[in-house]
Amino acid sequence: MDYISKFEKLINEQIDRVKMMKQQGDFINYDELDKLIIGVVGGDGIGPAITAQAQRVLEYLLADKVKSGKIEFKVIDGLTIENRAKVNKAIPDDVLEELKKCHVILKGPTTTPRKGDKWPNIESANVAMRKELDLFANVRPVKVPEKGIDWTFFRENTEGAYVLGSQGINIDEDIAIDFKVITTGGAERIARAAFDFAKKNGKKRVTVVTKANVVKTTDGKFLEVCKEVAKDYEGIEVDDWYIDIMTAKLVDEKRRTQFEVMVLPNLYGDILTDEAAEFQGGVGTAGSANIGKKYSMFEAIHGSAPRMVEEGRDIYADPSSIIRAGGMLLNHIGHVEEADKLFKALEICNEEQEHVITGRDTGSTSEEFANYLMKTIEKL
Ligand code: IPM
Ligand code: MG
Repeated sequence: MDYISKFEKLINEQIDRVKMMKQQGDFINYDELDKLIIGVVGGDGIGPAITAQAQRVLEYLLADKVKSGKIEFKVIDGLTIENRAKVNKAIPDDVLEELKKCHVILKGPTTTPRKGDKWPNIESANVAMRKELDLFANVRPVKVPEKGIDWTFFRENTEGAYVLGSQGINIDEDIAIDFKVITTGGAERIARAAFDFAKKNGKKRVTVVTKANVVKTTDGKFLEVCKEVAKDYEGIEVDDWYIDIMTAKLVDEKRRTQFEVMVLPNLYGDILTDEAAEFQGGVGTAGSANIGKKYSMFEAIHGSAPRMVEEGRDIYADPSSIIRAGGMLLNHIGHVEEADKLFKALEICNEEQEHVITGRDTGSTSEEFANYLMKTIEKL
Protein backbone atom coordinates (compact mmCIF):
# COMPACT_ATOMS: atom_id res chain seq x y z
CA MET A 1 0.00 0.00 0.00
CA ASP A 2 1.35 3.44 -0.82
CA TYR A 3 1.45 5.95 1.98
CA ILE A 4 -1.41 8.08 0.76
CA SER A 5 -3.87 5.20 0.83
CA LYS A 6 -2.41 4.17 4.21
CA PHE A 7 -3.11 7.64 5.49
CA GLU A 8 -6.60 7.55 4.03
CA LYS A 9 -7.27 4.27 5.83
CA LEU A 10 -6.15 5.77 9.15
CA ILE A 11 -8.44 8.76 8.69
CA ASN A 12 -11.40 6.52 7.87
CA GLU A 13 -10.76 4.47 10.99
CA GLN A 14 -10.83 7.63 13.06
CA ILE A 15 -14.07 8.77 11.43
CA ASP A 16 -15.59 5.40 12.35
CA ARG A 17 -14.31 5.73 15.91
CA VAL A 18 -15.99 9.12 16.24
CA LYS A 19 -19.25 7.61 14.95
CA MET A 20 -18.95 4.85 17.51
CA MET A 21 -18.35 7.40 20.28
CA LYS A 22 -21.44 9.34 19.26
CA GLN A 23 -23.60 6.23 19.47
CA GLN A 24 -22.43 5.34 22.93
CA GLY A 25 -24.95 5.46 25.73
CA ASP A 26 -24.39 6.62 29.26
CA PHE A 27 -22.25 5.03 31.96
CA ILE A 28 -23.28 1.53 33.02
CA ASN A 29 -25.21 1.38 36.28
CA TYR A 30 -23.88 -1.49 38.38
CA ASP A 31 -26.90 -1.40 40.69
CA GLU A 32 -29.09 -2.56 37.83
CA LEU A 33 -27.09 -5.73 37.17
CA ASP A 34 -28.23 -9.15 38.37
CA LYS A 35 -24.63 -10.13 38.73
CA LEU A 36 -21.46 -8.08 38.55
CA ILE A 37 -18.50 -9.88 37.03
CA ILE A 38 -14.99 -8.96 38.13
CA GLY A 39 -12.34 -10.20 35.71
CA VAL A 40 -8.92 -10.99 37.16
CA VAL A 41 -6.08 -10.85 34.65
CA GLY A 42 -2.70 -11.80 36.06
CA GLY A 43 -0.61 -10.65 33.11
CA ASP A 44 3.14 -11.37 32.98
CA GLY A 45 6.05 -11.89 35.30
CA ILE A 46 5.13 -11.32 38.93
CA GLY A 47 1.62 -10.31 37.78
CA PRO A 48 -0.21 -13.60 38.40
CA ALA A 49 1.36 -13.98 41.87
CA ILE A 50 0.46 -10.51 43.16
CA THR A 51 -2.91 -10.33 41.40
CA ALA A 52 -3.96 -13.62 43.02
CA GLN A 53 -3.31 -12.02 46.42
CA ALA A 54 -5.31 -8.92 45.52
CA GLN A 55 -8.14 -11.22 44.43
CA ARG A 56 -8.08 -13.00 47.80
CA VAL A 57 -8.38 -9.68 49.61
CA LEU A 58 -11.26 -8.54 47.39
CA GLU A 59 -13.04 -11.87 47.78
CA TYR A 60 -12.69 -11.53 51.51
CA LEU A 61 -14.14 -8.01 51.51
CA LEU A 62 -16.97 -8.96 49.17
CA ALA A 63 -17.65 -12.38 50.70
CA ASP A 64 -21.38 -11.79 51.28
CA LYS A 65 -21.97 -10.64 47.71
CA VAL A 66 -20.00 -13.55 46.30
CA LYS A 67 -21.97 -15.98 48.41
CA SER A 68 -25.32 -14.56 47.35
CA GLY A 69 -24.24 -14.68 43.70
CA LYS A 70 -24.37 -10.90 43.20
CA ILE A 71 -20.67 -10.77 42.41
CA GLU A 72 -18.57 -13.30 40.55
CA PHE A 73 -14.81 -13.39 40.06
CA LYS A 74 -13.59 -14.65 36.70
CA VAL A 75 -9.91 -15.45 36.29
CA ILE A 76 -8.69 -14.85 32.74
CA ASP A 77 -5.42 -16.48 31.70
CA GLY A 78 -3.53 -16.01 28.50
CA LEU A 79 -2.55 -12.35 28.57
CA THR A 80 1.10 -13.36 28.84
CA ILE A 81 3.84 -12.05 26.61
CA GLU A 82 4.60 -15.62 25.40
CA ASN A 83 1.02 -16.05 24.30
CA ARG A 84 0.76 -12.60 22.77
CA ALA A 85 3.98 -13.16 20.86
CA LYS A 86 2.76 -16.56 19.65
CA VAL A 87 -0.42 -15.16 18.09
CA ASN A 88 1.31 -11.86 17.25
CA LYS A 89 -1.45 -9.77 18.80
CA ALA A 90 -1.53 -7.28 21.66
CA ILE A 91 -4.54 -9.11 23.08
CA PRO A 92 -5.28 -12.64 21.80
CA ASP A 93 -8.86 -12.92 20.42
CA ASP A 94 -10.02 -15.46 22.99
CA VAL A 95 -8.71 -13.28 25.85
CA LEU A 96 -10.50 -10.22 24.47
CA GLU A 97 -13.71 -12.20 24.21
CA GLU A 98 -13.40 -13.20 27.88
CA LEU A 99 -12.60 -9.62 28.92
CA LYS A 100 -15.77 -8.42 27.25
CA LYS A 101 -17.83 -10.78 29.43
CA CYS A 102 -16.71 -8.84 32.54
CA HIS A 103 -17.89 -5.50 33.87
CA VAL A 104 -14.76 -4.49 35.73
CA ILE A 105 -11.25 -5.89 35.45
CA LEU A 106 -8.32 -6.10 37.83
CA LYS A 107 -5.15 -6.33 35.77
CA GLY A 108 -1.60 -7.21 36.71
CA PRO A 109 1.41 -5.80 34.82
CA THR A 110 1.96 -6.81 31.20
CA THR A 111 5.31 -6.66 29.42
CA THR A 112 5.46 -4.07 26.66
CA PRO A 113 7.77 -5.18 23.84
CA ARG A 114 10.20 -2.57 22.65
CA LYS A 115 12.47 -2.27 19.68
CA GLY A 116 15.49 -4.53 20.03
CA ASP A 117 14.26 -7.01 22.64
CA LYS A 118 13.44 -10.66 22.00
CA TRP A 119 9.73 -10.12 21.49
CA PRO A 120 7.96 -9.17 18.25
CA ASN A 121 7.21 -5.46 18.19
CA ILE A 122 3.51 -5.85 19.04
CA GLU A 123 1.45 -3.10 20.63
CA SER A 124 1.36 -2.81 24.42
CA ALA A 125 -1.45 -4.89 25.96
CA ASN A 126 -2.32 -1.92 28.23
CA VAL A 127 -2.72 0.44 25.32
CA ALA A 128 -4.69 -2.14 23.31
CA MET A 129 -7.03 -2.86 26.23
CA ARG A 130 -7.70 0.82 26.78
CA LYS A 131 -8.57 1.17 23.10
CA GLU A 132 -10.55 -2.07 22.66
CA LEU A 133 -12.69 -1.48 25.75
CA ASP A 134 -12.78 2.31 25.17
CA LEU A 135 -11.43 3.08 28.65
CA PHE A 136 -11.08 6.77 27.98
CA ALA A 137 -10.36 8.15 31.45
CA ASN A 138 -7.14 7.19 33.14
CA VAL A 139 -7.55 8.43 36.68
CA ARG A 140 -4.39 8.59 38.78
CA PRO A 141 -4.53 10.03 42.28
CA VAL A 142 -1.33 11.11 44.02
CA LYS A 143 -1.43 12.02 47.70
CA VAL A 144 1.35 13.09 50.05
CA PRO A 145 -0.57 14.61 52.99
CA GLU A 146 2.51 15.75 54.92
CA LYS A 147 3.57 17.80 51.90
CA GLY A 148 0.10 19.13 51.16
CA ILE A 149 -0.11 17.20 47.88
CA ASP A 150 -3.55 15.97 46.86
CA TRP A 151 -3.73 15.65 43.10
CA THR A 152 -6.00 13.73 40.79
CA PHE A 153 -4.90 13.38 37.19
CA PHE A 154 -7.41 12.76 34.41
CA ARG A 155 -5.28 11.48 31.58
CA GLU A 156 -7.06 11.03 28.25
CA ASN A 157 -6.50 7.37 27.53
CA THR A 158 -7.65 6.52 24.01
CA GLU A 159 -6.41 9.32 21.75
CA GLY A 160 -3.46 11.67 21.45
CA ALA A 161 -0.08 10.26 20.50
CA TYR A 162 -1.18 6.76 21.49
CA VAL A 163 -4.14 6.07 19.25
CA LEU A 164 -1.96 5.55 16.16
CA GLY A 165 1.19 4.90 18.14
CA SER A 166 2.01 1.69 16.31
CA GLN A 167 0.67 2.85 12.95
CA GLY A 168 3.14 5.53 11.99
CA ILE A 169 4.35 5.59 8.39
CA ASN A 170 7.85 5.35 7.00
CA ILE A 171 7.43 7.41 3.85
CA ASP A 172 10.86 6.37 2.58
CA GLU A 173 14.13 5.57 4.27
CA ASP A 174 14.56 9.19 5.32
CA ILE A 175 11.15 10.23 6.57
CA ALA A 176 9.19 8.76 9.46
CA ILE A 177 5.84 10.20 10.41
CA ASP A 178 3.70 9.56 13.47
CA PHE A 179 0.23 10.92 14.11
CA LYS A 180 -1.56 12.52 16.99
CA VAL A 181 -5.35 12.62 17.06
CA ILE A 182 -7.71 14.64 19.26
CA THR A 183 -11.44 14.57 18.67
CA THR A 184 -14.09 16.91 20.05
CA GLY A 185 -15.99 14.02 21.62
CA GLY A 186 -12.82 12.49 23.03
CA ALA A 187 -11.70 15.74 24.63
CA GLU A 188 -15.19 16.51 25.88
CA ARG A 189 -15.73 13.22 27.69
CA ILE A 190 -12.41 13.41 29.57
CA ALA A 191 -13.02 17.07 30.43
CA ARG A 192 -16.48 16.22 31.81
CA ALA A 193 -15.02 13.35 33.82
CA ALA A 194 -12.49 15.75 35.40
CA PHE A 195 -15.03 18.50 36.12
CA ASP A 196 -17.62 16.04 37.45
CA PHE A 197 -14.99 14.66 39.79
CA ALA A 198 -14.07 18.18 40.91
CA LYS A 199 -17.71 19.02 41.57
CA LYS A 200 -18.41 15.82 43.50
CA ASN A 201 -15.30 16.17 45.62
CA GLY A 202 -15.48 19.86 46.43
CA LYS A 203 -12.43 20.79 44.35
CA LYS A 204 -12.17 24.39 43.27
CA ARG A 205 -9.83 24.22 40.31
CA VAL A 206 -9.25 22.12 37.20
CA THR A 207 -5.96 22.62 35.39
CA VAL A 208 -5.72 21.82 31.69
CA VAL A 209 -2.22 20.83 30.60
CA THR A 210 -1.23 20.94 26.93
CA LYS A 211 1.42 22.31 24.59
CA ALA A 212 -1.12 24.29 22.61
CA ASN A 213 1.36 27.05 21.86
CA VAL A 214 3.29 24.66 19.60
CA VAL A 215 1.10 21.66 18.87
CA LYS A 216 -1.62 24.01 17.78
CA THR A 217 -4.24 21.88 16.08
CA THR A 218 -4.71 18.89 18.37
CA ASP A 219 -3.68 20.42 21.70
CA GLY A 220 -5.46 23.58 20.65
CA LYS A 221 -8.69 21.60 20.26
CA PHE A 222 -8.17 19.83 23.57
CA LEU A 223 -7.75 23.13 25.40
CA GLU A 224 -10.65 24.81 23.66
CA VAL A 225 -13.03 21.93 24.41
CA CYS A 226 -11.97 21.84 28.08
CA LYS A 227 -12.64 25.58 28.40
CA GLU A 228 -16.03 25.13 26.79
CA VAL A 229 -16.94 22.30 29.18
CA ALA A 230 -15.78 24.44 32.13
CA LYS A 231 -18.64 26.86 31.44
CA ASP A 232 -21.07 24.20 32.66
CA TYR A 233 -19.38 24.06 36.06
CA GLU A 234 -20.01 27.22 37.96
CA GLY A 235 -17.74 27.80 40.91
CA ILE A 236 -14.91 25.69 39.52
CA GLU A 237 -12.04 27.65 38.12
CA VAL A 238 -10.24 26.49 34.99
CA ASP A 239 -6.66 27.38 34.23
CA ASP A 240 -4.30 26.29 31.51
CA TRP A 241 -0.65 25.40 31.69
CA TYR A 242 1.89 24.15 29.22
CA ILE A 243 3.39 20.76 29.93
CA ASP A 244 6.99 22.01 30.21
CA ILE A 245 6.34 24.57 32.93
CA MET A 246 3.84 22.26 34.60
CA THR A 247 6.55 19.61 34.90
CA ALA A 248 8.74 22.23 36.57
CA LYS A 249 6.00 23.49 38.89
CA LEU A 250 5.39 20.02 40.31
CA VAL A 251 8.77 20.29 42.01
CA ASP A 252 8.07 23.83 43.22
CA GLU A 253 7.02 23.22 46.83
CA LYS A 254 5.19 26.51 47.13
CA ARG A 255 3.18 26.30 43.93
CA ARG A 256 2.43 22.62 43.61
CA THR A 257 0.06 22.41 46.57
CA GLN A 258 -2.35 24.69 44.69
CA PHE A 259 -3.07 22.14 41.99
CA GLU A 260 -6.03 19.84 42.54
CA VAL A 261 -7.38 18.22 39.40
CA MET A 262 -5.38 18.01 36.19
CA VAL A 263 -6.78 17.05 32.78
CA LEU A 264 -4.41 16.32 29.94
CA PRO A 265 -3.85 14.48 26.65
CA ASN A 266 -2.49 10.95 26.71
CA LEU A 267 1.29 11.31 26.41
CA TYR A 268 1.60 14.32 28.72
CA GLY A 269 -0.53 12.40 31.21
CA ASP A 270 1.75 9.40 30.95
CA ILE A 271 4.82 11.47 31.73
CA LEU A 272 3.43 13.84 34.34
CA THR A 273 1.83 11.04 36.39
CA ASP A 274 5.16 9.21 36.68
CA GLU A 275 6.77 12.39 37.95
CA ALA A 276 3.90 12.97 40.38
CA ALA A 277 3.96 9.38 41.68
CA GLU A 278 7.64 9.80 42.48
CA PHE A 279 6.75 12.26 45.28
CA GLN A 280 4.55 9.59 46.79
CA GLY A 281 7.27 6.95 46.81
CA GLY A 282 7.57 5.91 43.17
CA VAL A 283 5.40 4.48 40.41
CA GLY A 284 5.23 1.21 42.34
CA THR A 285 3.04 2.92 44.93
CA ALA A 286 0.50 4.20 42.45
CA GLY A 287 -2.66 2.54 41.27
CA SER A 288 -4.52 3.54 38.19
CA ALA A 289 -8.16 3.41 37.14
CA ASN A 290 -9.11 3.15 33.47
CA ILE A 291 -12.74 4.09 33.16
CA GLY A 292 -15.06 3.74 30.21
CA LYS A 293 -18.82 3.92 29.82
CA LYS A 294 -19.25 0.16 29.57
CA TYR A 295 -16.07 -1.36 31.03
CA SER A 296 -13.48 -0.31 33.57
CA MET A 297 -10.05 -1.67 34.38
CA PHE A 298 -7.85 -1.18 37.44
CA GLU A 299 -4.13 -1.80 37.37
CA ALA A 300 -0.85 -1.47 39.17
CA ILE A 301 1.43 0.77 37.15
CA HIS A 302 4.74 -0.91 37.88
CA GLY A 303 6.44 -3.41 35.59
CA SER A 304 6.24 -7.19 35.45
CA ALA A 305 9.72 -7.83 36.95
CA PRO A 306 10.54 -10.94 34.86
CA ARG A 307 13.89 -11.29 36.67
CA MET A 308 12.10 -11.97 39.96
CA VAL A 309 10.30 -14.87 38.30
CA GLU A 310 13.51 -16.23 36.72
CA GLU A 311 15.11 -16.21 40.15
CA GLY A 312 12.05 -17.87 41.72
CA ARG A 313 11.26 -14.82 43.82
CA ASP A 314 7.79 -13.98 42.52
CA ILE A 315 6.22 -15.23 45.77
CA TYR A 316 8.08 -12.39 47.52
CA ALA A 317 6.81 -9.64 45.20
CA ASP A 318 5.05 -6.64 46.75
CA PRO A 319 1.29 -6.85 46.13
CA SER A 320 0.44 -3.40 47.64
CA SER A 321 0.06 -1.57 44.37
CA ILE A 322 -2.31 -4.08 42.78
CA ILE A 323 -4.20 -4.30 46.08
CA ARG A 324 -4.54 -0.53 46.01
CA ALA A 325 -5.88 -0.83 42.44
CA GLY A 326 -8.36 -3.32 43.92
CA GLY A 327 -9.38 -0.59 46.40
CA MET A 328 -10.06 1.78 43.51
CA LEU A 329 -12.17 -0.95 41.92
CA LEU A 330 -14.22 -1.30 45.13
CA ASN A 331 -14.82 2.45 45.19
CA HIS A 332 -15.84 2.43 41.56
CA ILE A 333 -18.47 -0.31 41.98
CA GLY A 334 -19.93 1.51 44.98
CA HIS A 335 -18.37 -0.51 47.80
CA VAL A 336 -16.99 2.61 49.40
CA GLU A 337 -16.97 1.28 52.95
CA GLU A 338 -14.97 -1.79 51.97
CA ALA A 339 -12.57 0.39 49.99
CA ASP A 340 -12.05 2.68 53.00
CA LYS A 341 -11.28 -0.33 55.17
CA LEU A 342 -8.79 -1.61 52.65
CA PHE A 343 -6.92 1.70 52.36
CA LYS A 344 -6.93 2.14 56.12
CA ALA A 345 -5.56 -1.37 56.70
CA LEU A 346 -2.83 -0.82 54.09
CA GLU A 347 -1.77 2.29 55.97
CA ILE A 348 -1.70 0.43 59.29
CA CYS A 349 0.28 -2.48 57.85
CA ASN A 350 2.82 -0.09 56.38
CA GLU A 351 3.23 1.62 59.75
CA GLU A 352 3.29 -1.43 62.01
CA GLN A 353 5.47 -3.38 59.62
CA GLU A 354 4.77 -6.75 61.16
CA HIS A 355 5.29 -8.21 57.73
CA VAL A 356 7.75 -6.43 55.48
CA ILE A 357 8.17 -7.21 51.81
CA THR A 358 11.78 -7.06 50.63
CA GLY A 359 11.36 -8.89 47.34
CA ARG A 360 13.52 -11.75 48.67
CA ASP A 361 13.37 -14.52 51.25
CA THR A 362 14.65 -12.00 53.79
CA GLY A 363 11.09 -10.67 53.91
CA SER A 364 7.52 -11.92 53.89
CA THR A 365 5.78 -13.51 50.95
CA SER A 366 2.94 -11.69 49.21
CA GLU A 367 0.59 -14.32 50.63
CA GLU A 368 1.73 -13.59 54.19
CA PHE A 369 1.29 -9.89 53.54
CA ALA A 370 -2.25 -10.44 52.23
CA ASN A 371 -3.08 -12.54 55.31
CA TYR A 372 -1.72 -9.80 57.55
CA LEU A 373 -3.80 -7.24 55.70
CA MET A 374 -7.00 -9.27 56.05
CA LYS A 375 -6.33 -9.81 59.77
CA THR A 376 -5.87 -6.05 60.12
CA ILE A 377 -9.15 -5.39 58.29
CA GLU A 378 -10.92 -7.81 60.63
CA LYS A 379 -9.80 -5.77 63.62
CA LEU A 380 -11.06 -2.44 62.22
C1 IPM B 1 1.39 3.57 31.88
C2 IPM B 1 2.49 2.88 31.12
C3 IPM B 1 1.99 2.52 29.72
C4 IPM B 1 1.62 3.80 29.02
C5 IPM B 1 3.01 1.71 28.91
C6 IPM B 1 3.36 0.42 29.61
C7 IPM B 1 2.55 1.44 27.51
O1 IPM B 1 3.62 3.66 31.07
O2 IPM B 1 0.36 2.94 32.14
O3 IPM B 1 1.56 4.74 32.20
O4 IPM B 1 2.47 4.44 28.39
O5 IPM B 1 0.49 4.19 29.11
MG1 MG C 1 3.44 5.47 32.11
